[in-house]
Amino acid sequence: MAQLWGGRFTKETDQLVYNFNASISFDQKFYKQDILGSKAHVTMLAKQGILTEQEMKDIVACLDEIQAEVESGKLEITDKYEDIHSFVEANLIDRLGDTGKKLHTGRSRNDQVALDMRLYTRLEVLHTDALLKELLEALLQIMEENTETIMPGFTHLQKAQPITLAHHMGAYFEMFKRDRQRLEDIFHRMNYCPLGSGALAGTTYPLDRDYTAELLGFYGPTLNSMDGVSDRDYLIEFLSAAATIMMHLSRFSEEVIIWNSNEYQFVEIDDAYSTGSSIMPQKKNPDIAELVRGKTGRVYGALMSLLTTMKGIPLAYNKDMQEDKEFSFDAMDTVKGCLALFTGMLRTMKFNKDVMRKSANNGFTNATDAADYLVNHGVPFRDAHGIVGQIVLYCIEKNIAIDDMSLEELKAISPVFEEDIYDAISMETCVNKRLTVGAPGKEAMEKVIALHKEYLSSDWQDEIAIPQEEK
Ligand code: ARG
Repeated sequence: MAQLWGGRFTKETDQLVYNFNASISFDQKFYKQDILGSKAHVTMLAKQGILTEQEMKDIVACLDEIQAEVESGKLEITDKYEDIHSFVEANLIDRLGDTGKKLHTGRSRNDQVALDMRLYTRLEVLHTDALLKELLEALLQIMEENTETIMPGFTHLQKAQPITLAHHMGAYFEMFKRDRQRLEDIFHRMNYCPLGSGALAGTTYPLDRDYTAELLGFYGPTLNSMDGVSDRDYLIEFLSAAATIMMHLSRFSEEVIIWNSNEYQFVEIDDAYSTGSSIMPQKKNPDIAELVRGKTGRVYGALMSLLTTMKGIPLAYNKDMQEDKEFSFDAMDTVKGCLALFTGMLRTMKFNKDVMRKSANNGFTNATDAADYLVNHGVPFRDAHGIVGQIVLYCIEKNIAIDDMSLEELKAISPVFEEDIYDAISMETCVNKRLTVGAPGKEAMEKVIALHKEYLSSDWQDEIAIPQEEK
């Protein structure tokens, strides 16, 4: 047992208590952030004359050495230490003696862990955003190639009106673009440095918190030390954004699973992204999409878990907050994994355009347009709706599409129909006459695609400055 706080105790900690209390098994995930924060802290302490220049240099060099040894595998992070903070500090003291003991001057583990978690989450915001951008690029490519690929659009999972594949993909583009905007928003709100908050009430040392914040690429220090150590809003916001991303991915997965089914055959998932059955030789299953859909639950779980942990905590730091980590780390890894795999699956997926087109033809998706034709020839809409309803019934009985009816058959139901009805209800007309902003018509779609291209040509991440070594 290696603890930082033995002085006021007369008994050893019970082993079960020690195990229950320890966080090293999971907080080692941010050893890099812990070391980065410590380097910034001592650099600031030296600038303020609290440590000498030499002490600072020795500590920084030794911290670098510890990091390198952890990364090469020479130094193992073991459960001999209570948490990652103890691990780093104990190793520093082993190597530097009294100089190492000065690292924690003007700092508490409360503001230290608040910093580490914030640094870790900040990076996750950026990585998740970058993966979302790749997904948007994949979507835009499909959109550009498919402004004329007609497919049925659905409501209630019943064929409704013809749209294009570009239009359908465009709906997801909007969702994942909003997800990026949420992350950008969170980044700007969370990018303040809690280090220097101390245990809860700041410190009597003349720390330069602005300087520490600047060294770590933050916009500035947090402005209340009690909030500084006990705020996890940014993590809740991130988990909420992650849950929303998963919800979007899950909806998309559900569609891919339906489209890939034997009944639909709108798409074929690439062999590299499918799996087989151990018993049924014919099977090719959409496991990746199913897993993405399934993993959505654990990300929701992380959000609910943290909200629940935080809801009863009085100010300021309480040990409950150690529970912010495991589910969050799991959610962060899950959302990144799902985004990367989903994008790969999408990029390699084959769209069966002829099947989609046939499906749009055969589902009365042009019934609204047939009614609109009548309206344009003076029939009140409610009557037109009734007439086309009769036509649909007639077609269902004969197992044909509206387009397959002869003009005589149509005229028998309404004399208003003329030869130009066939052009008016062709799939191309149905789609391409829909030209309101956001509609599937080719011209409308091309305008939106141009906006998306412009959006993807710049990146908000290019504007932010966080230390290179952090990445
Ligand atoms: N392992 C702790 C956590 O994750 C670090 C902070 C401990 N602070 C304390 N006063 N015990 O929250």
